[in-house]
Amino acid sequence: MGGIPLGVPNLDIVLDGGLPESQLTVIAGSSGAGKASLVQQIACLHAAGGGHVLYVTTVTEPHSSLVAHLSSFSFFDPSLLGENIKFINIFSISRQGLSAVTSTLLRSLRYERNPFLIIEGFRSLRDLFGDAREVRTFAYELAGTLASIRATTLITTDCRLAELQDAPEAMVADGVIVLDGFWTGLRWQRTLQVVKLGGRKSLKGPHFLEIGDNGLTVYPRFESVYSPLTGELPGGRVGWGSADLDAAVGGGLPRGSATLLLGPVGLGKTTLSLQFTHAGLQSGDNCVYLSPSETAERLAAKSARLDLDLGPALATGALRVVNYNPVDSSADQVAWELCNAVQAGDVNRVVIDGLGAVVPGLDPARVHGYVSALLGRLRQQGATALATLHQEEGEPLPFLARRFDNLILGRVATVGGERRRYLSVAKMRDSAHPSTIWEIEIGSGGARLVPAARNSPVPSKEGQIDDQHSGREGG
Ligand SMILES: Nc1ncnc2c1ncn2[C@@H]1O[C@H](COP(=O)(O)OP(=O)(O)OP(=O)(O)O)[C@@H](O)[C@H]1O
Ligand SMILES: [Mg+2]
Repeated sequence: MGGIPLGVPNLDIVLDGGLPESQLTVIAGSSGAGKASLVQQIACLHAAGGGHVLYVTTVTEPHSSLVAHLSSFSFFDPSLLGENIKFINIFSISRQGLSAVTSTLLRSLRYERNPFLIIEGFRSLRDLFGDAREVRTFAYELAGTLASIRATTLITTDCRLAELQDAPEAMVADGVIVLDGFWTGLRWQRTLQVVKLGGRKSLKGPHFLEIGDNGLTVYPRFESVYSPLTGELPGGRVGWGSADLDAAVGGGLPRGSATLLLGPVGLGKTTLSLQFTHAGLQSGDNCVYLSPSETAERLAAKSARLDLDLGPALATGALRVVNYNPVDSSADQVAWELCNAVQAGDVNRVVIDGLGAVVPGLDPARVHGYVSALLGRLRQQGATALATLHQEEGEPLPFLARRFDNLILGRVATVGGERRRYLSVAKMRDSAHPSTIWEIEIGSGGARLVPAARNSPVPSKEGQIDDQHSGREGG
C-alpha cells in the first residue's frame, strides 16, 4: 500500500493504494485507448485535492482544444487552470533539440515542493525529432533529471503492449500501465493493465474499463479483489414471504447465505424473487434487485399485479433496482455496481434475477472464481442472496451452482393436459429441510407451495428428471 491516491474510481485498488511517489510511470496504449482522458482526470482530481500539476503537451494542438476536451467531463473545474494546473507546450522548444526540453521542465518545476508532472504524447517527440539514439539519450536524461528532483511523473505514449520493448520511454520508466481493448460482439471492451509498478505490488492482468461523462472507471477483475465465499454463516433465518416457502427451506433461508433457484421459463423465478424482496422490506430490510431485463417500473407493475407492491419501497429507496444490460456492460462492472449499491444502501437482501445474463460475457475460466467472489463479497457485506438461473429440461447442473450454499431445483411439466410447476430443495447449507417435492401455485400474494401429487414428473437432486419419485399425496 502507499503512493499518491489518484481518485479515479477503483484505479487505486489496482495500484495497491495509488501512484508510486517520485517515480516515472508510463501510460501506454494505441490511439483512442483513453490515455489522454486518464491523465486529464488524474490532473483534475489531483488539483482539486490541492495539488499542483504541470501538464506538458508535445504536439501543436492548442490548449483551447485540450480545454474543450476536458470540459466534456464532469470532473473538470475551470477555476483550477492556471494556479493548480499549468499547461506548457514543448513543441517549439523540442525543435531546438531534445535536451532543451529537459532544462525547460526543470525550470518550470524548480519551486515545486512535490512536483507532479504529466507529459502527454511522448511518441510524437520521438517520431518528429532526433534519431533513435538521440531519443534514447533524451529519455535517460529526462528520467534522471526528474528522479533527481523527486518528481512524480506520468508520461503518455502511443505504443501498444507488443511495442513496449522498443520504446525508450518504457525502458526508463519505473512503472508501465497499458490501456487496450478488444471486440466482444459489437462492443469494444476497454482494458487497463499494469505491466510494472516500480517493484511494487499491483493487481496483475487486464481489468475492464469504462469511459463516460465522469471520466474513467476501472472495474478490477472481481475475484482478484475479493475472497471466495467461505466462512460461517452469522446464524438466524430470514423469511421468504410465506409459511409454506419458509417451511420448504427448513424455516426460512439461513441469514447471510446464498441460494440459487434453477428452472425453466415460466417456473416462477421472478415471482419467488419478488416475494423474497417483499418479505425483506416488510421485515425492515433494505433490498437490491439486480435484473438484466426488468426496469424498476416494470418490477413495480409486476409486483403490484401479484399483490406484492414494491412501488412504495422503490420510492423511499429501501429497494433499489440495478439494471444490467449484457450488451453494454461487463460482468465485473455489474458486480462492482451491485456491491456499491449494497454498500450505499445498507442492504441486507440481494436478488440476482437472471445470473445467466451476467456470466456469459466472462472468460469461462473465470466463472467459478467470479461467482464465488461475488457471493463472498455479498456475505461480507451482510446480505442474504437469492439468485435465479434459467435451466431447461434435462440440462446438467452448471458448475457454478456448486458455489451456492443452497440449491433449489424447479421443473415445469405437462400433466393431464396442464402445465404444472414444481420445485424441490436439493441442498441447504448446515440445515435440515423437508425432502418433499412441491407444486408451485401462483396467484395473488405470489407463489404457494403444496406437496406434489404422487407420480408427478419432478426434478431430482441431480437436476435430472425422476418420473417415478415417491412424493407425498396431497395438493
Ligand atoms: N398475477 C399473477 N397471477 C397468476 N399467475 C401469475 C401472475 N403473475 C405471473 N403469473 C404466472 O407465473 C408464471 C411464472 O412467472 P415468472 O415471471 O415468475 O416466471 P420466471 O420463472 O421468472 O420466468 P422467466 O424464465 O421467463 O423469467 C407465469 O407464467 C404466469 O403464468
Ligand atoms: Mg423471470
